[in-house]
Amino acid sequence: MARFHPLEVTDIRRETADAVVLTLKPRDEDAGAFGFTQGQYLTFRRQFDGEEVRRSYSICAGLDEGCLKVGVKRVEGGAFSTFANEELKPGDVIEAMPPMGKFFTALDADVSKDYLGFAGGSGITPLLSIVKTVLAREPRSRFTLVYANRQIKSIMFREELGDLKNTYLGRLSVIHVLESDSQEIDLFTGRIDEEKLEAFFNLWIDLPAVDTAFICGPEPMMLTIAASLKKHGMKDEQIKFELFASSQPGRAKQKVISKAAATAGENVEIQLTLDGTTRSFTMQRDGTAVLDAALAHDIDAPYSCKGGICSTCRAKVVEGEVEMISNHALEDYEVRAGYVLSCQCLPLSEKVVISYDE
Ligand code: FES
Repeated sequence: MARFHPLEVTDIRRETADAVVLTLKPRDEDAGAFGFTQGQYLTFRRQFDGEEVRRSYSICAGLDEGCLKVGVKRVEGGAFSTFANEELKPGDVIEAMPPMGKFFTALDADVSKDYLGFAGGSGITPLLSIVKTVLAREPRSRFTLVYANRQIKSIMFREELGDLKNTYLGRLSVIHVLESDSQEIDLFTGRIDEEKLEAFFNLWIDLPAVDTAFICGPEPMMLTIAASLKKHGMKDEQIKFELFASSQPGRAKQKVISKAAATAGENVEIQLTLDGTTRSFTMQRDGTAVLDAALAHDIDAPYSCKGGICSTCRAKVVEGEVEMISNHALEDYEVRAGYVLSCQCLPLSEKVVISYDE
């Protein structure tokens, strides 16, 4: 099965000085594979100086827009984001994997829910998809979005959010928090920290009424918000995260199973199932991740960030023992069920059976 598919760039809209929105069109035969759920992302690949670079960008279109759009903000020194912002033009073709990700909740046209979203910078992209889809598909639900940026000119989708407020009168509330541009209300200036969140939850946001909170942005901001939400009574299962950049160590290293590690030898037999095909190979237990070993054996295993963030490389350990060196993506219940990020997965036992198909 072809993992990557060509997508034609049909439009490029400059959103801010350093961010563009790409509209993409799959080939007719791939249209089914590129159906998506609000909040999912696409993983792109491209060769730069002979080296393959993969990057994931969230879909910013709503389910009812009938098109595929991603927002790409230029990152200092980022090969793909610079290429997308400076070189890409309509008519070009880029390669992407079908949509992935679990940053969403099921929608039901009959319910009346209150959603709360926190976005930091380009973390708005999946949230915009969620906001648009929720407002369109749950006509009685409401959404409050707290959107943090450095300054007014760096706000992505500012106009579109304003239009949505007008379209869905009384159902969308957007609070812009600006780090360096001052605003009429002091509370909306500065960084989102514990103190500001306290004020929000006491004065502006009726947290007990909120059914689900979505958070997407830099990890420190996400952790602060999640801690505050929990302090105010929200449960883990009510809070959905999407991390797309990380400069901090993630969750504590988690061993799926680790008892036999001490007795295992240096060579490990890996049996790997992908797209219905099972292959076996031997790898050394020398700090190499299972994903890298699979790629070295010409197995087209899925991956993007290779940093334990995106979950594109998610697989299930069916037999054997492994440990993950970092995990910013899987929930605890997934780890308990045997799921791993194969890019972070070191084998511990003499044999590991792993499947990307479960
Ligand atoms: S490739 Fe992104 S978490 Fe493994």
